[in-house]
Amino acid sequence: MSTDAQSVAARLNSAGFIRSQGFIGGKWTDAYDGKTIEVTNPATGEVITNVSCMGGRETNDAIASAQDAFVSWSKQTAAERSKCLRKWYDLIMAHKEELGQLMTLEQGKPLKEAIGEVSYGASFVEFYAEEAKRIYGDIIPATLPDRRLFVLKQPVGVVGAITPWNFPLAMITRKVAPALACGCTVVIKPSELTPLTALAAAELSIQAGIPPGAVNVVMGNASDIGEALLASPQVRKITFTGSTAVGKKLMAGAASTVKKVSLELGGNAPCIIFDDADLDVALKGTLATKFRNSGQTCVCANRILVQEGIYDKFANAFSNAVSSMKVGDGFGEGVVQGPLINDAAVHKVESFLQDAISKGAKVLIGGKRHSLGMTFFEPTVITDVKSEMLLSREEVFGPIAPLLKFKTEEEAIRMANDTNAGLAAYIFTSSIKRSWRVSEALEYGLVGVNEGLISTEVAPFGGVKQSGLGREGSKYGMDEYLEIKYICLGNMS
Ligand code: SIN
Repeated sequence: MSTDAQSVAARLNSAGFIRSQGFIGGKWTDAYDGKTIEVTNPATGEVITNVSCMGGRETNDAIASAQDAFVSWSKQTAAERSKCLRKWYDLIMAHKEELGQLMTLEQGKPLKEAIGEVSYGASFVEFYAEEAKRIYGDIIPATLPDRRLFVLKQPVGVVGAITPWNFPLAMITRKVAPALACGCTVVIKPSELTPLTALAAAELSIQAGIPPGAVNVVMGNASDIGEALLASPQVRKITFTGSTAVGKKLMAGAASTVKKVSLELGGNAPCIIFDDADLDVALKGTLATKFRNSGQTCVCANRILVQEGIYDKFANAFSNAVSSMKVGDGFGEGVVQGPLINDAAVHKVESFLQDAISKGAKVLIGGKRHSLGMTFFEPTVITDVKSEMLLSREEVFGPIAPLLKFKTEEEAIRMANDTNAGLAAYIFTSSIKRSWRVSEALEYGLVGVNEGLISTEVAPFGGVKQSGLGREGSKYGMDEYLEIKYICLGNMS
C-alpha cells in the first residue's frame, strides 16, 4: 500500500474503524463457512482487509433478528427513535474524518469529497431524526353520522436495503434513516467493493443506542443475499440503488411476496447549455455535475448538449478547465479525480470511447488510461458526438464528457428526452421563461437550473421512466417506509 494509505489504514484499524465481520442482531459475525473476500484500495490495488463473505443463511438470520427487533423498535415513541437517530448523526459527524478516510481507502474518491459525502450522508440521519416526530395521520369526515374515520400511518416492517459502491455511506443513510424513523428495522447489503464504511456506520448506530437487530449488515455473495431478501415474507420492502438491470430483477423477484419496492436506478443525464447561458456559471455547473466522483454517479451529466452559437467557445473553455484537474490517489494534495472503481469500469469507458471514435467523434483532451496506471483514467472531452453512439445511449459512469451540438430549444428537448432513463437533467440559461418551459418539458425526476450539484436531504431524489420508482430524501422519502391503515369506528352515536 502507498505510505499514506498504509498509515491511514493502520490508524483506522487501531481505532476500531476497520471491521471485517458482518453485523447480525447486534453481534459481529463471521460467515458461517468461514469464507472471506478481499476489500481492495482502487488507487493501489492493495488489500485493505478481508471481510466475511456471507450468503443466504446469514441473511435469513439477519432477517430474523430484524423481525425480533421490529416488535420493540416500532413500539418506541417517535421521540425515542428521534433521539437515537440524532445521536447517530452526532457520532457520524464526530467521526467524519475517520469515515472519510475509510471511504477514500475503499472507494478511491478524493478525501475532501469523501468527507463531504460523510456530511451529506449524516444530513439524512439528522433530517429523519426530525421527521420521525411528524408522521401524522388523518381524520376523514364520515359519510354516516355514527361513524368516525381515521387514517393511521404504520411502519412497513423489515426492510432490505441494497446499496452501491459509489456512495458507501450516503446511499445507506438515505434509506436506513427514514426506515428507522418510521419504526422499521433493516438488513443492509452494502456493495462487496465498499463494505467498510457501512460496517463502521453500523457500529456507530449501536453506540447511538439504536437497539441490536434494528440495523444488520450482511455482505458477500450478492445474488444469494438478494434471493434471501426477496424470498422472505418477513421482508416487506426492498430499497435499492444501482443498475437498471439489477433493479428490474429485484422488482420481478419482489412480486412473489408482493413487497413494496423503491428503486433508484441508472440515469443518462442531459446537461443543456443554451446560447443565452452565463458561460462561467455553465462551466462551473457542468464541471461539477460531470466530474463528481470521477463521473461515477447516477446524476452525473452523461450528455452535454450545447447550442451552436456557444458551442466552440464552451468546448474550448471547458477543455481548458478539464485539463487542469489533478488526477491521483485520493489522499494526494489537490487531487480532484480519483481512480475508477475497478478494471471493468475502465473497460466500459474505453469501449464507449472506441465506439464513438469509430463513428466519427473527436477527442479534444484525454481519451486514454492515465499514466498513473491502475484504474486511473484521463478526464476526457470528446466532440462531434451523435445520438446513435453508445455515449449518448447509455450511462458511461466515468470521466468522459461528450459534447453534442443542437440548434433549437425544441431539438434540445427532443434529444434530452430520447432515452429510457429519466433521473436528472440540467439546463443552463439566463432566461426565466425558458427555465420554466424546458424544466416542465424534460421527462426527468430532478432538474438543475444553472446548478450542477442539486442533491440535498430536504428535496426528493428519484427518477421517472426506467430510472426508478419512489423518492428518497425529504418528507416524501418517509412515505416509502409507511403503510396507510384506514380505521372505521362504527356505532359512535
Ligand atoms: C447516485 O449516484 O446514486 C446518488 C447521487 C446523489 O445522491 O447525488
